[in-house]
Amino acid sequence: MAQNTSPSRYTITAALPYTNGPIHIGHLAGVYVPADIYSRYLRLKGNDVAFVCGSDEHGVAISMKAKKEGVTPKEIIDKYHGIIKKSFADFGISFDNYSRTSAQVHHETASEFFKKMYEQGDFIEEETEQLYDDEANQFLADRFVIGTCPRCGHHEAYGDQCENCGSSLNATDLIDPKSTITGTVPTLKKTKHWFLPLDRYEGFLKKWILEGHKSDWKPNVYGQCKSWIDEGLKPRAVTRDLDWGIPVPVDGGEGKVLYVWFDAPIGYISSTKEWAEREGKDWEPYWKDQSTKLVHFIGKDNIVFHCIIFPSMLQANGDYILPENVPANEFLNLEGNKLSTSKNWAVWLHEYLEEFPDMQDVLRYALTANAPETKDNDFTWKDFQARNNNELVAIFGNFVNRVAVLTHKYYDGTIPAPGELTNTDKETLSSLKSYPDLLSNSLERYRFREGSQELMNLARLGNKYLADAEPWKLIKTDEERVKTIMYVALQIAAGLAILSEPFLPFTSKKLKGILNVQSGKVETSWASVSSEDTLLPAGHIINKSELLFRKIEDAEIEHQLQKLEDTKKENASTTNSAATMENKIVPQKDTITYDDFSKLDMRVGTIIEAEKMPKADKLLVLKVDTGLDTRTIVSGIAKSFKPEDIVGKKVTVLVNLAPRKLRGVESQGMILMTENKEEKLVFVNPDADGVLNGEVIS
Ligand code: 2FM
Ligand code: ZN
Repeated sequence: MAQNTSPSRYTITAALPYTNGPIHIGHLAGVYVPADIYSRYLRLKGNDVAFVCGSDEHGVAISMKAKKEGVTPKEIIDKYHGIIKKSFADFGISFDNYSRTSAQVHHETASEFFKKMYEQGDFIEEETEQLYDDEANQFLADRFVIGTCPRCGHHEAYGDQCENCGSSLNATDLIDPKSTITGTVPTLKKTKHWFLPLDRYEGFLKKWILEGHKSDWKPNVYGQCKSWIDEGLKPRAVTRDLDWGIPVPVDGGEGKVLYVWFDAPIGYISSTKEWAEREGKDWEPYWKDQSTKLVHFIGKDNIVFHCIIFPSMLQANGDYILPENVPANEFLNLEGNKLSTSKNWAVWLHEYLEEFPDMQDVLRYALTANAPETKDNDFTWKDFQARNNNELVAIFGNFVNRVAVLTHKYYDGTIPAPGELTNTDKETLSSLKSYPDLLSNSLERYRFREGSQELMNLARLGNKYLADAEPWKLIKTDEERVKTIMYVALQIAAGLAILSEPFLPFTSKKLKGILNVQSGKVETSWASVSSEDTLLPAGHIINKSELLFRKIEDAEIEHQLQKLEDTKKENASTTNSAATMENKIVPQKDTITYDDFSKLDMRVGTIIEAEKMPKADKLLVLKVDTGLDTRTIVSGIAKSFKPEDIVGKKVTVLVNLAPRKLRGVESQGMILMTENKEEKLVFVNPDADGVLNGEVIS
C-alpha cells in the first residue's frame, strides 16, 4: 500500500501553456487539475513539493497569432500571460510558481543549458536544406508549414509534429508541404543548424524507459515511447531561423533562435529557480538530487518531448535527475467535437469563472470524474449538471448540511459525547479510517478519476449512515443514541473536510470553516483520518452551516448550449468552417501556373432540361444552354436534386473538358459543384442575375 512514512521531495511540473489563447477545459482536464490534485495531496501528506509552471511564450504559435492580429509577439504574450495567470489563480491551481519563458531567468537558464551541451560536443552542427517560403522570405518550420503526415496520412500535420498520431516530425518529412504564411509550396534552401543526435541516446532510453518503466508508466505513454524507440531515433534540429525566441548563444548563431521545444521544458527549471529565489531556498536539490521525484503532467501530444527529447537533454547535460513518471492524459472533447482555440470550440476558464462564480470545485469535480485518463472523453454540459446536482449537491452537500444543521438544532453546535458504539458505528468509523489509504492508492497511481469516486463514496457512506439511523426520528424516543449517531456522522464530515482538499479545495476550506477546524484547532493531516484518535472531540463547537453547493438549473445549461450553437453558426458562416468543424479541410492541391488556369474555359450557363438517367440512381442528364450552344452534360447529382427543381438554374460550366461517355450518353462538359454544411451538393452559382449565358468566368 502506498502510504509513505517519510516525507519526500517532489518536483511537479505542468505543461507550460502557449500564450496564444486562454485556458480551456481541455487543458484543465488533461493537465492542470490532475497536477493540482497530486500536488495538494503530496503537500497534505507532509512532502516537500515544488509545483511549477509558466507561460510558453516562444515558438511559431505565438508569431502566427501576432501576425494574424497585426500586433507584436510581445503584445500577444503579455495579453494571454495575464489572462492565463489570473484564471489559474482564481481557479485555485496551487502552483508554487507561475513563470514565463520571456523572463530573464529563463533566457539565461536556457542559454546556459545550450552552451554547456555545445561545449561538451553534444550537438551536431550541420548545413542542410530546409523548407523556405520565397514569398515571405522566411524559412519554414514547425507551425509555419503544414502537410501530410508521413506516418498516418493526416493532412494537417505541422512541421514538427502531427497532432493526429502524435509523431514528432522534421518539416522536410512532410508530404506536400505548404507554407501557412502564404499558402505557397516551399522551396529548399541551405542553412546551418544544431542538431541533437537522438540516435546517440537510444541505448539510454531503452534501458531507462523500456526496461525501467514498463510496469509503472501508463500504457499509452509507454507504448508511444516504445514505438519511437523501436522505429529508430534521428537527429533533431534544436535551433531555428526565426526572429522570435531565445537567441542561439554560440558563434554562428546570429539571427537564429532556440527551437521552442528546446527552451520550453527548461522553463520548468527556470520557474523552480524563480520560486527558490523568492522563498530563500536552493533550487538545485529539486532538479539534481537523485532522491527527488520529478513528475511531468502533460497532454498526449507532448509525450515525445517529455519522454524522449527533454530526458536526452537532461542526460546529456549530466547534472539532472530524470522524470519518475509522465502521466500523460488523452484528449477531452466538447459536446462531441474536438476542442479548438482557433474555432472557439471551447469552454474558456476565464468565462466559466465569470458565469459560475464560486463554483470552481464543480468544474474540477466534473472534469476529474470524467477525466480522459485512458481514452479521449467528451465533456457535456448535461453531465456537468448531473455531476453537480446528483452528486455534489444530493450526496456530499446534503450529508454535510444535515450533520451541521442537526448538531446546531440538538446541541447548539457542540459535539456530543458518544455512548456505547454499535457494530454499525464501529464499522462505519473503521470504514472512514480506510479512506486515506484507499485514496492514496488511486492518487499515487495517477488514477484521479477513481480517487474522485472514492471520495464521493465516503460522502455516500455518511449519507447512508444517517439515512439508516434516522436521528431526526429517534430524537423523540432515544436522545442518548442520537448523541452517538451525530458524533459518528460528525467524524465522517471531518474526514470529508480533510480528504476532499486535493479534489475540492474551496469546498474543503468552507467545510473546515463550518466544522471550526480551520486554524490548527484540531489535527487535520491526511494521516489523522486513519489514526486511532477521533477527529472531532466531544465538546468541540462547530460554526453555523452554510450550503456547500447549489443546484444548477436547466436554464443555465441551456444558456451554455446556446452559446455553443452560436459558435457553430458563426463557424458555418465563415468560409470553409463547416468542413473545419469536422476537421475535413481538403488540402490545397499543387500550385498551377496562370497558363494552366487560362486553359480552363468556364462559362455561365442555364439548365434548360433535366431528366434521370435510366438505371443509374446518381446521374442526371442535363441540357445546358452555354451561350455557345445547347449541350448535353451528365452530372452525378441525382441524390441531391430532383430534375424538376433545377430547370432554369444558372450554373458554372467547364465547357472545354474532353467529352466522355457515361452509360452510353456523351457528356460535353462539367457543372461545378461543392458541398454545403449538411454535406449536400450545391451549385457553385454565379450570382448571375443579368449575366448572360456564355459569359466567360475568369
Ligand atoms: O503543447 C503546448 O501547449 C506546449 N506549450 C507545452 C509545453 S510543455 C513544456 F515543455 F514546457
Ligand atoms: Zn500523423
